[in-house]
Amino acid sequence: MVEGKVTISDLDKVYGTGAERTKAIDNLSHEVPSGEFLSVVGPSGCGKSTLLYLIAGFLDESEGTITVDGDPISGPGTDRGVVFQDYALFPWRTVMGNVTYGLEQKGMNKEEQQTRAQRFIDMMDLDGFEDKYPKELSGGMKQRVSLARTLAYDPKILLMDEPFGALDQPLRELLQEQLLDIWRDLNKTVIFITHDVEEAVYLSERVMVMTRHPGTKKESFEIDLDRSKSREDVIISDEYTDMKNKVWKSLREETNHNREI
Ligand SMILES: Nc1ncnc2c1ncn2[C@@H]1O[C@H](COP(=O)(O)OP(=O)(O)OP(=O)(O)O)[C@@H](O)[C@H]1O
Ligand SMILES: [Mg+2]
Repeated sequence: MVEGKVTISDLDKVYGTGAERTKAIDNLSHEVPSGEFLSVVGPSGCGKSTLLYLIAGFLDESEGTITVDGDPISGPGTDRGVVFQDYALFPWRTVMGNVTYGLEQKGMNKEEQQTRAQRFIDMMDLDGFEDKYPKELSGGMKQRVSLARTLAYDPKILLMDEPFGALDQPLRELLQEQLLDIWRDLNKTVIFITHDVEEAVYLSERVMVMTRHPGTKKESFEIDLDRSKSREDVIISDEYTDMKNKVWKSLREETNHNREI
C-alpha cells in the first residue's frame, strides 16, 4: 500500500486567549499525495512553522482536521519525522547515540539498532564520526546527524522546517542533493519549509505559497522539471526560471502588501 498522504481540511490555529489571542492559521485546506515533495513558502510570521508543528502533532488544531492516510493525527508519532533548523540533537549522546535514539524508543534490540543506525550514518557520509559528540561537529554534519536520526526510524513523512537555512551555499547544495537522493530511494512524503524560492522550486514537485499573517494557502504551483538533468542544467532551463518567477511574484505580492497602501 502506498502511504504518507496528508490531508489538511479547514484548519485554524489560534494561540492564546483574550487580548493575547493570535490567529496563526486561517482556514487552510490542502492535500499532499503520498510520496510528494512539497515545499511551503510564505512571508515571515505567516504560520509555516505552526502548520508543520500541527502536522507533527506537537500542537493541537483549533478547528478543522489533519489526517495521515485517512486517520486523524493525535499527537506526535513515528510515522512522521521532524527535522529542525537548529538540529535539536541530544548533546549528551554521540552521533551513534543520537541515531539509535528513535530505534530504542521503538523497542528494537541493541544489535539491530547498531546495524540500522550505521546504515544511515554511512548514507549521510558520517562514517568515522560515530563516537563524536554534537559539539565536535560542523553545522552541516549536525544537520546530517539529524537527518540520519529521523530517517533511521523510517517515518512515512518527513517534516522539515528550514533545515538548511543556517548552512552556507555549497553545503546547502550538497544536502539538497542528498535529500533528493533519499526522497527518490526511500519514497517518502516530504513537507519542506523554506524562505528560499530557488530552493523550493529546485527541490519540489509542488510549491505552496501562503498568504501573509494569518496564513492560509494562497496558491500552489506544480513544478515540472526534468529530474534526469544535472543541477547545472536544471537551473539554466526555461522551466526552472519560469517557475521561479511565478513563485517569486506570488510571494512578493504578500510580502509587499503593506508597502502598497
Ligand atoms: N507559541 C506561540 N504563542 C503565541 N503566538 C505564536 C506562537 N508561535 C507562533 N506564534 C504567532 O503565530 C504566527 C505564526 O508564527 P510561525 O512561527 O508559525 O510563523 P513562520 O511562518 O514560521 O515565520 P518565520 O518565517 O519567521 O519562521 C506569528 O504571528 C507568531 O507570532
Ligand atoms: Mg518558522
